[in-house]
Amino acid sequence: MAGFILKADNLHKNFDEFKAVKGVSFEIGEGEIYSLLGPNGAGKTTTISMLTGLLSPTSGNAYLNGFSVREDVNRVKEIIGVVPQEIALYPTISARENLSFWGKMVGLKGKQLSERIDIALEISGLADRAKDQVETFSGGMKRRLNIAVGLLHEPKIIFMDEPTVGIDPQSRRRILDTVKSLNENGMAVLYTTHYMEEAEELSDRIGIIDHGKLIAQGTQEELTQMVGEFDTIKLNIGEIENIEERAKKLCKLPKIENAFGENGDLMLQARDANEVLSEVIEHLNNVKIKIHSLKIQEPNLEAVFLHLTGRALRD
Ligand SMILES: Nc1ncnc2c1ncn2[C@@H]1O[C@H](COP(=O)(O)OP(=O)(O)O)[C@@H](O)[C@H]1O
Ligand SMILES: [Mg+2]
Repeated sequence: MAGFILKADNLHKNFDEFKAVKGVSFEIGEGEIYSLLGPNGAGKTTTISMLTGLLSPTSGNAYLNGFSVREDVNRVKEIIGVVPQEIALYPTISARENLSFWGKMVGLKGKQLSERIDIALEISGLADRAKDQVETFSGGMKRRLNIAVGLLHEPKIIFMDEPTVGIDPQSRRRILDTVKSLNENGMAVLYTTHYMEEAEELSDRIGIIDHGKLIAQGTQEELTQMVGEFDTIKLNIGEIENIEERAKKLCKLPKIENAFGENGDLMLQARDANEVLSEVIEHLNNVKIKIHSLKIQEPNLEAVFLHLTGRALRD
């Protein structure tokens, strides 16, 4: 059996009284893409910070290729590439000069350094902008340069913490494609996101994290089987005030298991959509809410999160 490149063993992190991470355990196999999927504040960045030696765990431990983040952090750093959430670049020098700076920090020099820089620029799609000052870059290009920095020392596993938040769709597409092509070349990836579409597209396995705990993990198929016996009904009613409260009221109807509302959509879960539809429609008619569209959805990760927490995954 192929070994694990990463093993997190019962990681906890307290910030004074506050417990940000409460016993997170998971493994990533060699060459696997594993996503931590969870809403803002779930504990994704804190978990990554412990796995990469930036924060020391309150208790528990993690191993990268067998090396403990507590005892062998220097060995761990040789194995991992880190793409942090915030940008770590010098704006007034070029992309290439940034890479050169960071490459020297990890002990590269001479021909090897310039070759690795070329490869990293190529992978991140920035080769044609290598000589431009970073301050002229879009947010998406800076993120891609951050990824390039993380790749310089040819890590066995790369950690990407919400790399697509707040950037244009084109850069987002590029980053997702970069993750896939790195993985096709054998690199393991730990990816964090609160976008279920990204987790679905990229991951071999997914851990759903909420309030500092992994509440479920498995392949997408395994996770959606957890709600397989439930239908999710999505009703678009347009932007209205108090859509959350509206959802809570619907939740009280018989046979509705869970409900939430956001961005003009009501999402309802029931064992059998057909059994509840007429009552839902009647209820909305009574309170003079118009239904713009209605569909019954296949189980997806959003439905899994709703099923497990009774809340929406998005912010
Ligand atoms: N240095 C810190 N001091 C106190 N609380 C923190 C610190 N870092 C994170 N937290 C809190 O821990 C929780 C998890 O944060 P974080 O790991 O950043 O979540 P995520 O990355 O999933 O959005 C949040 O409630 C956050 O406010
Ligand atoms: Mg975070």
